[in-house]
Amino acid sequence: MNTKIFLLLTVIVSIKSEYVNYKYHKVYTVTPTTEKEVQALLDLKNSNDFVFWIEGIKVGLENRIDVAAEKQRLFEKYVSDAGIKAELIIEDVQSLIDNQVKRSKTRNSNEYAWDYYQNLDEIYEWMNRTAEAYSSVASIINIGATAEGRPILGMVIDFKKRERPYYSVIEGGLHAREWITPATCTWIIKEFLTSNDRGVRAMAEDVVWYIFPVTNPDGYVYSFTDNRMWRKNRNPAMQTSCAHMNRPDDMSVGVDLNRNFDFLWMTVGASGNPCDITYAGPSAFSEAESLAMANLINGLQERGSLLYYLSFHSYTQLLLIPYSHVRGSDVLEADNYADLFEIGIKGMDKLTARHNTTYRVGTSADILYEVSGSGFDWAKGGAHFPLVFLFELRDTGRFGFLLPPEEIIPTSEETMDGMVEMDRVARSMGYYRGSAHSFTASGFMILLLAAMLLAK
Ligand SMILES: *[C@@H]1O[C@H](CO)[C@@H](O)[C@H](O)[C@H]1NC(C)=O
Ligand SMILES: *[C@@H]1O[C@H](CO)[C@@H](O)[C@H](O)[C@H]1NC(C)=O
Ligand SMILES: [Zn+2]
Repeated sequence: MNTKIFLLLTVIVSIKSEYVNYKYHKVYTVTPTTEKEVQALLDLKNSNDFVFWIEGIKVGLENRIDVAAEKQRLFEKYVSDAGIKAELIIEDVQSLIDNQVKRSKTRNSNEYAWDYYQNLDEIYEWMNRTAEAYSSVASIINIGATAEGRPILGMVIDFKKRERPYYSVIEGGLHAREWITPATCTWIIKEFLTSNDRGVRAMAEDVVWYIFPVTNPDGYVYSFTDNRMWRKNRNPAMQTSCAHMNRPDDMSVGVDLNRNFDFLWMTVGASGNPCDITYAGPSAFSEAESLAMANLINGLQERGSLLYYLSFHSYTQLLLIPYSHVRGSDVLEADNYADLFEIGIKGMDKLTARHNTTYRVGTSADILYEVSGSGFDWAKGGAHFPLVFLFELRDTGRFGFLLPPEEIIPTSEETMDGMVEMDRVARSMGYYRGSAHSFTASGFMILLLAAMLLAK
């Protein structure tokens, strides 16, 4: 680019946007132990003076609270008065952010690597180069444009093995700030194209993959340029004043894409207020990103069989099974829950074997919090993919969204191991033979009997 134009653009951009600097922001960890403490934390959250990293607040659920330096005293007094134990775990949030994007000096800048978090241009350029290099099996698909006009690009990997293919979708980066997820998705693409491991090869070649490392491109860019903690997309259509909530109006730009899918939309764990971080949008599929994904999948359904829908989020090290609003024996609302649970448990055992990272497996309502309108619940209940999982990748909160770049490769390696094992178990259950339904039915009956016995 011409240097003068570049400088001019830089000036315009820096006038337009206000980078949220997290210098000296602290992060505290708190785990409410009583309903009274839960209420005190809810009140604190509603004051909007602090940023909670986890949306749900319940007894026993560990949370992280970002505290600006000038509010540190206020925060410490509040928790101390409420008798809540809070531990300071991060001294300077900005230094962790800076560390995430630091480029190593030795490497050719044209080369993709997994030793820092790549921005959208770098990811898209790498996808383009990779598709060119593997053009017999890989191509780029553009499923639509975002509010800010960016393409939503996916990598299609198709070894053309079957006339009527098994189609699978991987969705990463739906939440902008969860940077480990695009990094892991690009690793999966690389492995599917280059690995010699038998399990990886089988998974890569028997299925036609649609892999979207950054399903929310506008939000992802914004999390680099303006606010590292951005989660939603950047749709300005519902912009309103957030002053009454003690929040900047900019908070009302954007919709939580993982609440915008048309499955039990806006029933639980979602907000109708544009100033909230879990704002579900004015209607289901109001957003370009979620609608584009649904349109793609509806098209695939006509040309083959759907197999996997894998959604990548962070953090907390969980493997979630649909549906996100059910717990206890109601988990059986997902017809093959028993199969999914077994596949998940075995997969996560293999994941742990690599770097001793432990995962919990279950529905979101059971092991995290209730959610509705998520992409992966829609994939199960709306699109009827048989094998649907949501990974909440590393870590359990030591760094949360600010996971050090040194953890990108170990996270990716263990995730791949887990996926390969999940695929092996799914095959043994008959999911590649179209005969999974008998297994599904038997698993269902066993769980149903167990649930009936428990209910008595
Ligand atoms: C890569 O980008 C170039 C330039 O925009 C484009 O012409 C080409 O078709 C892209 N390749 C793929 C595989 O999408
Ligand atoms: C693996 O992690 C568990 C806890 O998650 C810990 O108790 C154990 O010591 C770890 N093992 C190794 C070999 O690091
Ligand atoms: Zn997420």
